[in-house]
Amino acid sequence: MSDYQLTRLLDESAAETALRADVLRGLTRSPKVLPPKWFYDARGSELFEEITRLPEYYPTRAEREILLERAREIAAESGARTLVELGSGSSEKTRHLIEAMPALDTYVPVDVSESALAGAAEKLLAEHPGLRVHALLADFTKPLHLPDSPGPRLVVFLGGTIGNLLPPERAEFLHAVRSMLSPGDALLMGTDLVKEESVLVAAYDDAQGVTAEFNRNVLAVINRELDADFRTEDFTHVALWDREREWIEMRLRARSELRVKIRALDLEVPFAAGEEIQTEVSAKFRQDGVRTELAEAGLELVQWWTDSSGRFALSLAVADGPGMMP
Ligand code: SAH
Ligand code: TRP
Repeated sequence: MSDYQLTRLLDESAAETALRADVLRGLTRSPKVLPPKWFYDARGSELFEEITRLPEYYPTRAEREILLERAREIAAESGARTLVELGSGSSEKTRHLIEAMPALDTYVPVDVSESALAGAAEKLLAEHPGLRVHALLADFTKPLHLPDSPGPRLVVFLGGTIGNLLPPERAEFLHAVRSMLSPGDALLMGTDLVKEESVLVAAYDDAQGVTAEFNRNVLAVINRELDADFRTEDFTHVALWDREREWIEMRLRARSELRVKIRALDLEVPFAAGEEIQTEVSAKFRQDGVRTELAEAGLELVQWWTDSSGRFALSLAVADGPGMMP
């Protein structure tokens, strides 16, 4: 029976230390803020999968359309024998790529959600018993030590997750990706595109309230991990389009004045009625911006593909200039 390997670059105590620091810093400043990676416990990963099937949430379908259409081209252009995927989640769309890559030797899914990694690895191995799967439980914003595997490498970053990083974090992240690439390697990145406000807002505030539940799940994570007493129903989900910065901003708004106890931090956090916690941004892009941000990180945009209605784009980029000097 084929099996996958799992390397944990995050141990539970380090994760808890990081969560404590983020919650302490984020909920004692003004405006209050919580970093997005804490959304994705097992329940959060499940809710995200539900989001990807909502009628309003077009990015997954649009990106899948491009992948299905371009998988062969991507496989041929990259010639990749190792596929590294950052924030791989369920790896649901990635299978289209894997199917188009018969020479693929190793798949390295990287995620902070162990349940998502395990589910994805098991499903992929059942379909591709010859594929080596080496999962990394890791934070993709931290230095990554990749397992040994044959090149060339294709690094993929799908779902528009790059848009969940703030601009300075994006720059740092893209530099780190650039340093992972050897000559002949490539980056495939999905970005959601700027479009009409009503379409964007609906994608992050669906009629069934799944996105609202996903957003509030971060409070349940804090309750469980830090022994806090958030009542999730005391907070409403807010999704706003910031037309200057061209991003969707997600917030949680206190319905009334309230206080929350976070026992593991020995902290009591007061909320004014209507006070908000900023939980996540989802930036939307234009081709020029993507090209510029890649170039600033030493990456050259070599392909730009969109879905048939121009809602979402996949970029293929390579390290520019001569290879890295030793
Ligand atoms: N690529 C999938 C999932 C996108 S959701 C898709 O396109 O559908 C974002 C994924 O990134 C989640 O699985 C989440 O657990 C993971 N993630 C978020 N922040 C992360 C971080 N800092 N490091 C590693 N994984 C992260
Ligand atoms: N990468 C996804 C996106 O920006 C993540 C996401 C989808 C998300 N819906 C969300 C994050 C709702 C927070 C809240 O589209």
